[in-house]
Amino acid sequence: MKERLAALAEAALAAIAGAADPVALDEAEKAWLGRKGELLSLMRGIGALPPDERAAFGQAVNAARARLDEAVAARREAFAAAHLAAELADTRFDPGEPPPPRARGHLHPLTQVRREVEEIFLGLGFDVVDGPEVETEAFNFDKLNIPAHHPARDSQDTFWLENGQVLRTHTSPVQLRGMLRAAGRPPVRLIAPGRVFRNEQPDATHEHTFHQVEGLMIDAGVSVADMKGVLALMLERLLGRAVEVRLRPHYFPFVEPGFELDLRPAGSGGRWLEMLGCGMVHPRVLAEGGLDPAAVSGWAFGMGLDRIALTRYAIDDLRWMMSGDLRFLQQF
Ligand code: FA5
Repeated sequence: MKERLAALAEAALAAIAGAADPVALDEAEKAWLGRKGELLSLMRGIGALPPDERAAFGQAVNAARARLDEAVAARREAFAAAHLAAELADTRFDPGEPPPPRARGHLHPLTQVRREVEEIFLGLGFDVVDGPEVETEAFNFDKLNIPAHHPARDSQDTFWLENGQVLRTHTSPVQLRGMLRAAGRPPVRLIAPGRVFRNEQPDATHEHTFHQVEGLMIDAGVSVADMKGVLALMLERLLGRAVEVRLRPHYFPFVEPGFELDLRPAGSGGRWLEMLGCGMVHPRVLAEGGLDPAAVSGWAFGMGLDRIALTRYAIDDLRWMMSGDLRFLQQF
C-alpha cells in the first residue's frame, strides 16, 4: 500500500506539473484528488491493512494529499502569473500608464472676442442687445435708406426667403429696433453683436456667414469726435496695444457722413487695416427710429468680429472660424 501511495503521489505530481493550461490542470486535479479520484480510492483500501498500521497510512495519505494540493495551487498561480506577464508584455495595455489628460473645452475665439467687446461697452454704459437673424426687407434695407433698386443693395448680396424676408446682411437693423425701443427718449447707447449672412463667394477674408457688432450712440450734440474717441479706445483695449486710427470717407446709405476706419499699431508706420464701417446716423434713419433729427444726433458703427479675431490672433484665413476643426480651435 505504501509503495502504491508513493507511486501514485509521484504520478499525480507529474500530471500536475505537466498540465499545459488551466483546463488540463483542473482535469488532473479531479482525476487524482477528486471524490472519485485515485487518492480516495486508495484510502478506501485502508481496511485491508493491519489495525496498527492504519493510522500511519491515513496520515501518509493526508500528507500526500496536502502536498498535491499545494502543487495544484502553485501551478495555478504560475498560470495566472504567466497570463498577467503576457498581458503586460502586450504594448496595448500598460496598467502603469497615467490616464490621458481629461479633455477640457474652452470658448471659441470669436466668443472670446465678442465677450471682450461687450465688457468694454458695458463699462462705457452701453446696453448689449439682440436682434432677429431673419429680418424684414424693410428693416434690413428700406428703413436704413436702402430702397429697392438702390445700388447699395448689390454690395450686400442677400439670401431671400420664400416669404420675402431676408437673412440679415448686417447688424444695422438692430439700430432701428433700439431707437424704436427708446420711444423718442434719448439717449440710446447700445451694441448688438450677432450673426449675419451674405451670398458671398468665400475666400480668406470673406465668409457667407460671419459676425458683426453694431454700435449706436444717440443723444443731443453727439459728434464724429466722440465716435472716433470711443472706437479708438475700444480697438486699443481689444487688441491689447496702442493703435493709430484713421477715418476714410466712405459711402453707407444709412450714415452721413460715412467712414471706414483703418488702424495700425501706434508708431509702426505700417500698413493700414480696414476694421469697420461707421458714421453719423442719417437723419432719415433717425426719423424712421422715431427720433427728431433736429434735436439729436448720433453715430453708429458696424465691425466684423471675425476680422478682429484674425488680426488679434494672426490667423491667415477667415474660413477657419466656422470650420469646427479642433486642430484650429485648440490653439486658442
Ligand atoms: C456694413 O455691414 C455696415 N452695416 C456697417 C456700418 C454700420 C456702417 C453702421 C456704418 C454705420 P460692410 O459691408 O463694410 O458694412 O461690413 C462691415 C464689416 O463687416 C467689414 O468692415 C468687415 O470687417 C466685415 N465683413 C464684411 N463682409 C464680410 C464677409 N463676407 N466675411 C467676413 N467679414 C465681413
